[in-house]
Amino acid sequence: MQVLLGGGLLASAVSFLYPVWRYLVPPVATDLGGDSVVAAKVGELKANSGKIFRFGSRPGLLVRTADGEYRAMSAICTHLNCTVQYRSDVREVWCACHNGFYDLNGRNIAGPPPRPLESYAVHVNGDDVVVSRRRGT
Ligand code: FES
Repeated sequence: MQVLLGGGLLASAVSFLYPVWRYLVPPVATDLGGDSVVAAKVGELKANSGKIFRFGSRPGLLVRTADGEYRAMSAICTHLNCTVQYRSDVREVWCACHNGFYDLNGRNIAGPPPRPLESYAVHVNGDDVVVSRRRGT
């Protein structure tokens, strides 16, 4: 009886804690050596959408434009380090913290951000959308 009760309690604890753990620990991206990462799979992003991916210890933003091109940049706002996001309604990158806007090349175009977002190179390698830091920047 105690074994059954203990097992039930353990299952309850696991069913409660697992979603919390999944929420707190972001999915691991395939790190290709520090300067490159697989940010998405081909076909994962529809046109005019974006996703946050992990680039080392920091967030990056991968955007698929309305024309189907990929763009990638740091997702850390240059104002006060909030995480930016893609806004499909205006087709720009937006920081919700203080209403800052960047274009799809990461240039700051409105609001308080003082500098552009770091821009990354994107290339497709088989099924992978690979994002890399630009050399010399
Ligand atoms: S932190 Fe992004 S606009 Fe202020």
